[in-house]
Amino acid sequence: ASTLPLFGKNIVVSAGPTYENIDPVRFIGNYSSGKMGFEIAKVASRMGANVQLVSGPSHESVAGFPIERTNVISARDMYEAMHAKYDTADVVIMSAAVADYRPKEVADQKIKKNDEDLTIELTKNPDILKSLGEIKKHQLLVGFALETNNEEEYAKGKLAKKNLDFIVLNSLQDKDAGFQKNTNKITIIDKDMSMQSFDAKSKADVAKDILNVIVKKL
Ligand code: C5P
Repeated sequence: ASTLPLFGKNIVVSAGPTYENIDPVRFIGNYSSGKMGFEIAKVASRMGANVQLVSGPSHESVAGFPIERTNVISARDMYEAMHAKYDTADVVIMSAAVADYRPKEVADQKIKKNDEDLTIELTKNPDILKSLGEIKKHQLLVGFALETNNEEEYAKGKLAKKNLDFIVLNSLQDKDAGFQKNTNKITIIDKDMSMQSFDAKSKADVAKDILNVIVKKL
């Protein structure tokens, strides 16, 4: 087993969307399927890592893999789970699509409709990745960026601002990339600002490319 490239490494992966409650029956969410993060978790496990997966609501499964899965709903739940696992992590990969905002107040009862329009006030969620970057010690910290324009420039900005080791950029302009697709096309930008572009491929193969970059860095 010691020939496995990630043998003995503790890897924490986040995946999926977060849901932010409006009332007991409604939420604000996004179209993230969780596929990319689940593939990373499974490939890392096959490469010998001890994998902990922190997942928002997703239909994906890691059944049959020795992966410790923690299910969360909201960004604040995910924040708690990621911080609880951070000290002992060698590698943290934030592939979750975390909601940037949540309703400022959550109604105790189902909100009743009337003839008026309804305004829901939103407040900012914590930036989980940025908060991990601020207290980074030995960990290798990896983020994702999904952009529709100025993608390289924005991704480089995030890499620096969140104190990442590298960032995985996927563009929504690309027909083979994005939410709920089985394929993805990525560019990896390193903290030294060097860039590596990959062809469109299955999310499982994209996961291998990302983890191979991690193996080289460990
Ligand atoms: O700033 P932006 O949301 O584009 O950054 C994307 C990266 O930051 C992803 O890795 C995502 O998981 C992470 N993120 C986070 N907490 C947030 C928003 C994004 O950890 N509230």
